[in-house]
Amino acid sequence: MATAPEPTNPRAPRRASFQAERPYGNSDALSGRAFEKLARLVTEHTGIRLPASKKQMVEGRLRKRAHALGLDVSGYCDSIFESETPSAEFQHVVDAITTNKTDFCREPDHFAYLTGHAIPSLVSGRQRLVKIWSAACSTGAEAYTIAMALADLSGSYDFRFAILGTDICTEVLAIAARAIYSQEIIKPVGADWQRRYLMKGRKLPELRIVPELRQRVHFAQLNLMSAQYPVDHDVDIIFLRNVLIYFDKETQRAVLGKLLQHLRPEGFLFLGHSESMVGTELGLREVGPAIFQRK
Ligand SMILES: C[S@@+](CC[C@H](N)C(=O)[O-])C[C@H]1O[C@@H](n2cnc3c(N)ncnc32)[C@H](O)[C@@H]1O
Repeated sequence: MATAPEPTNPRAPRRASFQAERPYGNSDALSGRAFEKLARLVTEHTGIRLPASKKQMVEGRLRKRAHALGLDVSGYCDSIFESETPSAEFQHVVDAITTNKTDFCREPDHFAYLTGHAIPSLVSGRQRLVKIWSAACSTGAEAYTIAMALADLSGSYDFRFAILGTDICTEVLAIAARAIYSQEIIKPVGADWQRRYLMKGRKLPELRIVPELRQRVHFAQLNLMSAQYPVDHDVDIIFLRNVLIYFDKETQRAVLGKLLQHLRPEGFLFLGHSESMVGTELGLREVGPAIFQRK
């Protein structure tokens, strides 16, 4: 039976609690000014907006790296500001600040469109190489989901495919290149695909993408804020999902403008479902939910 909470006595002494030692004291936080400076630097370099509401999140994410170097967060940021141009250490800031949430088979209607419409319309009758770019690929779940979907189709259509995954964050790119994932992460992959496209190690509980798919997927670091992208200009399909949300409108338009220079006419662009509004302004044909085709 539920019991009513005891009334609290405002004059009762506060219960003392044990505090873990805080070796870094109050300087293990950023001043408002230091946060603004860091946010400006991050936005300039990555496009990612960091409003004041993200201060605690940023401090939390930088603390681990700062402490590993024997610094508090404030001292760590000072060391970042010391160099005129972004230093090698700045990559650690980028790795800490990027949000890399991803899943296998995320937004599944996109993969249904890919296999049911996009590939059939692109390859119809011609034997050729289909190029696909996952332009903010995180740990590779998106790129390997595409690979599984296309490998499934290879019995029905005569085509080969090559997938490029790019991201600004080096930590996720290392995971993508290893292609080893926990059972928990693999859960969204259906049993049939798991049987065909994942292999079990003899000792570890993790699963690895099979070599036949791994050899068709390559990863490289690419910052969408770069003036130019070192990527072919005849890409058939670009996935740019769940990254534009971190940029402001102007940056979203600039990134999409550059990206579309790499998409061939009749090629397809897949955006995240919450980003489809940006796509509608591009003068592309909207052919599905957050799916666009270049005219
Ligand atoms: C939320 S994840 C999305 C992953 C995947 N596309 C998906 O939808 O599941 C966003 C990714 O964008 C990357 N990113 C953020 N800013 C970037 C930039 N300027 N250039 C390239 N990648 C960036 C992050 O590192 C992160 O891995």
